[in-house]
Amino acid sequence: MNLQEIVDQWQGRPTFAIVDLDAFATNVQVMRRWIVPEAKYCVVVKANAYGLGAIPMAKTALQNGADIVAVATVDEGAQLRRAGISSDILLMGPMGAAEKDLAVGMDMTVVMNDIPFAYGLARSVRENGRTKPLKVHLKVDTGMRRMGVMPEDAVAAARKIMSFPELRLEGLMTHFASADVEDMTSAEKQVAVFDQVVADLEVAGIDIPIKHMCNSAGTVQHQDWHKDMVRSGIATYGVRPAPHIPLPGEPGEMKQCISLHSTVTRVIPLAPGDAVSYGGTWVAPVETRGALVPIGYADGELRSLSNVSHMAIEGQKAPVIGRVCMDQTILRMPASLPSTTRQRVVVFGNGTEEQAGAPTLEELAEIGCTIPHELITSIAPRVPKLYVREGKLVAISDLDGYREYQRS
Ligand SMILES: Cc1ncc(COP(=O)(O)O)c(C=O)c1O
Repeated sequence: MNLQEIVDQWQGRPTFAIVDLDAFATNVQVMRRWIVPEAKYCVVVKANAYGLGAIPMAKTALQNGADIVAVATVDEGAQLRRAGISSDILLMGPMGAAEKDLAVGMDMTVVMNDIPFAYGLARSVRENGRTKPLKVHLKVDTGMRRMGVMPEDAVAAARKIMSFPELRLEGLMTHFASADVEDMTSAEKQVAVFDQVVADLEVAGIDIPIKHMCNSAGTVQHQDWHKDMVRSGIATYGVRPAPHIPLPGEPGEMKQCISLHSTVTRVIPLAPGDAVSYGGTWVAPVETRGALVPIGYADGELRSLSNVSHMAIEGQKAPVIGRVCMDQTILRMPASLPSTTRQRVVVFGNGTEEQAGAPTLEELAEIGCTIPHELITSIAPRVPKLYVREGKLVAISDLDGYREYQRS
């Protein structure tokens, strides 16, 4: 079966996403080939793998060349451990005091943004009776001004962490603020600051084995910045970090691996002057038809896409008319299509012929003045996600959780 046949045979909620695990596996393999051999490959699966589903994406990534996965919260890491993921899990975001034991008990690799935190973490390691020290990565704020210790404090911070027998300082990291813009001056400055921190640590006799700074934009543009590890999210999901940044591999080898689908549930006759949806922000200029689609902002169809975006009905471009509601959106029915329900809608496609007429994620992000990351992380858990591998539906994720139909 191809993706279209899976779409056609789906009998569940009429709004659903298709996640193409083969495309994702290829993306991971291509990225792995691109990343310098001496660097580890950390796939960022925080925020439920950017909305695609943390468990299947983490498993597929690790089976296809990734070494490590990264999450933002303790819960996200725990979900992966419970699903049987045994690789290192880099926990990048902060945790509450009551979450430390879980993070330690589940052997997460913890990013340290400040030193007072090290005391509590070390205590938790002791109290959990762990015999091996917990791996930690020290984050340095080289210019993003978000998280991490300041560069001038890095040597002292490293020394402090190393003074705890319960902790092992395995990594040193930073994060780019602007590696996805055409002018790379800001990123270059951050690299220089990071390199200086590494040099200062060397002078102090401190060697931290895994130094890493690259997100997708840094990874795909600068192999010379890969150091000992890269952390890639969006590129691995097959979306360019920005329109001017091509993905590695042969053209088209890496593919956007999610598409969002729905169906027409009502055809609405519209007379000239009829105002559509809340607030009546779109008024029919002539006799025409609306097509009701059961997807709304509670599913991830952003309200800001009202009146400015489009979807595809049976391959034909259909503009969004009126305001996006919580659970519904209305499209203008293309004139050539019949007045029947159950016609196929593609909300955003992957750019292939099969999904013609619909915007890709990148196009929709541009229309909505946002980035693809926001669009996919907004897809709600109530939207069933259908995981497809080798032409078969292998797993589903919905409000009942994640279920595999065959081993993956
Ligand atoms: C610390 C950190 N590293 C890496 C990434 C991955 O970024 P990208 O999706 O652009 O590859 C993120 C994502 O926001 C991040 O916060």
